[in-house]
Amino acid sequence: MPSKPRQLSLNAFLHDTGHHEASWRHPDSAAERVFDIDFYVEQAQRAEAAKLDGVFFADIPGLWAATPYRPTAHLEPITRLAAIAARTERIGLIATASSTFYEPYNLARLFSSLDILSGGRAGWNIVTTQSEQVARNFNLTQLPPSEERYARAQEFVDVVTKLWDSWEDDAVLTDRDSGRFFDPDKVHQIDHHGRYFQVEGALAAPRSPQGRPVLVQAGSSNQGRAFAARNAEAIFTAHQTIQDAQAFYGDIKTRAANARPWLDEPACTSTGRPCGLRGEASAPSTWKYRPWWSIWCTLSGSKKWPLSRSVRTASSSQLSHSFVTTSTNSWARAYRSSLGGS
Ligand SMILES: Cc1cc2nc3c(=O)[nH]c(=O)nc-3n(C[C@H](O)[C@H](O)[C@H](O)COP(=O)(O)O)c2cc1C
Repeated sequence: MPSKPRQLSLNAFLHDTGHHEASWRHPDSAAERVFDIDFYVEQAQRAEAAKLDGVFFADIPGLWAATPYRPTAHLEPITRLAAIAARTERIGLIATASSTFYEPYNLARLFSSLDILSGGRAGWNIVTTQSEQVARNFNLTQLPPSEERYARAQEFVDVVTKLWDSWEDDAVLTDRDSGRFFDPDKVHQIDHHGRYFQVEGALAAPRSPQGRPVLVQAGSSNQGRAFAARNAEAIFTAHQTIQDAQAFYGDIKTRAANARPWLDEPACTSTGRPCGLRGEASAPSTWKYRPWWSIWCTLSGSKKWPLSRSVRTASSSQLSHSFVTTSTNSWARAYRSSLGGS
């Protein structure tokens, strides 16, 4: 029997001036444009033209590792993606936001709005944030332990998804004759009373095109993997050897099948930086093109972007042939074409 067609998801990790601390000092770098929104819009447009599935912004809500030697200040990602949404048409837009430092109502509203204004392209990379220093920006003297952060994250996601579901699909009427803008019977309070959050609802936004924006996660600890298996539709991960990557892939696949047996295909695609996975020391010397590598693991079974646009499964033997990069990287283009892709 012929196997199902397989296709990689490609996501550009747009990391300001790049991962290397000194990359901004290269004479050809665009360091002066780090706070220029057109810089990011241009990259997203290039990624879209090259048919990548998404662009992604990492984030921590603070001036991490404060040092004058790299551009650690950065534009807030949801705001950035709102600007990018207005000047792109199809590409997925993933922003990182912390369940430790946001309130679920605020965040549900922000992602719902991003989903509406982008026509259904929003994705949320759920992080619990590992920085002690950041905690001191949010009324805390120290960061809560990992278990506590993941417990809060689970309730946070539950509240956010309840809020996204608080408007039924056809709640908005805009009926001039009756004078009813929406049908109150189709807008529901969530009345959530939990350990961390008390939220009445409903959300101050109608149901967005995706209903629920795509949930992305990158946990690698035991709690992080359990959380990802239970909630994520796409998973970022990073490994230095193909054995580690395959072990992660197998573990996530098993956990996801146990946590969500109703997924159509509880398989995942684990994609990674090919040089890293092959144990080579570094990427080819194309860093001035900003080859932000990212690792991308998707759980199929969802009807939403980015999972609905193509079949997202690959065997673990494909790991070393799977990677994510910006389209501007000529080496990456050559590599893809050597694999038979365009
Ligand atoms: C590709 C990738 C992107 C990540 N982006 C962020 C980020 O933007 N902000 C953040 O606080 N953590 C980020 N992380 C860290 C993870 O959220 C997570 O904390 C880390 O993988 C450790 O897992 P654990 O929290 O389960 O211990 C990222 C990890 C990976 C692999």
